[in-house]
Amino acid sequence: MEKLVIEGGKLLHGEVKISGSKNAALPILAATLLTDETCVIRNIPRLRDTMTMVKLLRSLGKTAELTGDCITISQKGHLNHVAEYKLVSTMRGSFCVLGPLLAKLNKAKVSLPGGCVIGVRPVDLHLKGIKALGAKIEIEGGYVIATTRKLKGAHMYLGGAFGSSVLATANVMMAAVLADGETIIESAACEPEIEDLTNFLMAMGAKIEGKGSPRLVINGVRKLKGVQYKIIHDRIEAGTYILAAAATRSSIIIKNGCFEQLMALTDVLNQAGVKVIEENGYVKVKPGRRFSPVNVSTYPYPGFPTDLQAQYMALMALTPGVSVITDKVYPDRFIHTAELNRMGANIRREGINAIVQGVKKLYGAPVMASDLRASAALVIAGLAAKGRTEVHRMYHLERGYEDLDQKLLGLGAKVWREKE
Ligand code: EPU
Repeated sequence: MEKLVIEGGKLLHGEVKISGSKNAALPILAATLLTDETCVIRNIPRLRDTMTMVKLLRSLGKTAELTGDCITISQKGHLNHVAEYKLVSTMRGSFCVLGPLLAKLNKAKVSLPGGCVIGVRPVDLHLKGIKALGAKIEIEGGYVIATTRKLKGAHMYLGGAFGSSVLATANVMMAAVLADGETIIESAACEPEIEDLTNFLMAMGAKIEGKGSPRLVINGVRKLKGVQYKIIHDRIEAGTYILAAAATRSSIIIKNGCFEQLMALTDVLNQAGVKVIEENGYVKVKPGRRFSPVNVSTYPYPGFPTDLQAQYMALMALTPGVSVITDKVYPDRFIHTAELNRMGANIRREGINAIVQGVKKLYGAPVMASDLRASAALVIAGLAAKGRTEVHRMYHLERGYEDLDQKLLGLGAKVWREKE
């Protein structure tokens, strides 16, 4: 195991290039199960999570060849319908093989993913949508066993207590593209990653209307074909570097910055005193002289993303005054507050809110990464802090940030990996 060591307090400068989107890549890789033909997908980020999905696809009967950021997925024999516990339990994104396996084979046995440190994370909406399409669902030995003679289109509402669900929308959409007749999904997730999956499916020959909207109308087709496709860039990675620049009071340039997908973040940052502008296709971050606290609540897209909440908290921890941060998507996603406090932050939980009293300085400390975005918040705090920070369990960062240490070095940070 490795840890990331950061000698904090350095200004960042220069350019950073954003990789392909993890959360677009995962369902798109799963969607290759819908065709026997070869798919060539570019801009795949080399991450622990995408590699787990590749392993899962191989275990299901696909062959996958990776060259740089390009993956070629083909199939020689038959698909296997069982997605094993040991792969699905390590990454929730794996659960979205359920829809495509069922659509293709009329049966699927997929391990339940379980909860994780950011909350309970049920799959009731996935199962509700799949059932609405006519599948029989049984839960046995920790697995979802879904069977059908043939999926049939249906009109369904997929909103839940915390809004729409990204992966439930992906799962049901992938099942519906090969179902008989018309499916209408109301309260579908509108995240850019779902729009990217829709584009991928449409390129394969799926018939989908309402792309990017909460109402998707899908007309099932008999067969889908192989395609060549380039996935979108990672808006959450871009947002993380924007927040790293803001917290260290640095000016940086972000290539492939997904500016229009980050308006909820840039609007809040403009109020907080950080200018984020788009110029010639690049995103430029320019911190002002004075910073102000700004309250934030996360919401499904186009609201402020829950996947940037922890990183934003690291910035607010260093902003004079009081801010209130609420996570409406994952109300318990506050595991990072205790570790930030170990670095000198002053944050307390009050019910569903985190109350952040900004401090003048954070101080480097050994800290424990607990999940991907919480770890990113600790890296941001470490970059801005005085002294040495060690972020233990670096593998959490490797799940979602490609070449993090190299990209930070390129921005002038003093960071390196060490063996634990
Ligand atoms: N929910 C239900 N029932 C369900 C599914 C979800 O109640 O059947 C609830 C969840 O518990 C949560 C809310 O609905 O309160 C939204 O969860 P959602 O299903 O949208 O999350 P997800 O699809 O499992 C994806 C991303 C997450 C990201 C969320 C929210 C992937 C692989 N994961 O998860 O990304 O936080 O959407 O935007 O796409 C990350 O990248 O660090 C990450 C956790």
